[in-house]
Amino acid sequence: MDDQDTVDKIADYVKEHQQKAGGHDWWHIYRVWQTAKILARKEKADIIVVQLAALLHDLADWKFHGEQEQVKEAGLVLKKFDIDDKTRNRVLDIIANVSFKGGKAKNKIKTIEGKVVQDSDRLDGLGAMGIARVFEYGGTKGMTMHDPTRKIRKNLNKEDYMKSASGEGTSVEHFSQKILLLKDRMNTKTAKRIAKKRHKFVEDYLKEFHKEWKLKDMK
Ligand SMILES: [Fe+2]
Repeated sequence: MDDQDTVDKIADYVKEHQQKAGGHDWWHIYRVWQTAKILARKEKADIIVVQLAALLHDLADWKFHGEQEQVKEAGLVLKKFDIDDKTRNRVLDIIANVSFKGGKAKNKIKTIEGKVVQDSDRLDGLGAMGIARVFEYGGTKGMTMHDPTRKIRKNLNKEDYMKSASGEGTSVEHFSQKILLLKDRMNTKTAKRIAKKRHKFVEDYLKEFHKEWKLKDMK
């Protein structure tokens, strides 16, 4: 069995075990996986390490299960499919550091493989997909869609971001606390270019949202 066969088998496993909703379902993983393959080829990154990290990066999302659990789960799957120690460590290092953890948190991703997976994950947080996922995630967490009486806090540290993203904040706040920060945090040239377009789409959407909220379109 060659390496790609193993990757495809792991993809089947993830499809079966991934959560069904909440913005981190199989189809999020699938989009990140496909994007990561394109970026990996452009950036000449190790295609196997990139695919494995993309497929396993949200098996247990840290906002739901805690950071340790995320790496542990992924490690168990890699062991189950007999991935060698060196590859496993490279993949787990990416998974431990790939997630957005607040506007003030330092990005610890160093390798090109990690940068590719992180960009792919972040691109799926922007544009039409990103908007849909914010509200789907908010619904899962029981978050209010929008509350105009709240002052929006931006650029949070890890603890405050975690509280906000775990249900204390609103979905509209999540745009300011994460989604609109992603464009300037892309690593690769290709992702930066695509992020620009998707960012603009989110900005336009939010303008329309607030226009309707204030009934300005009724005039
Ligand atoms: Fe993700």
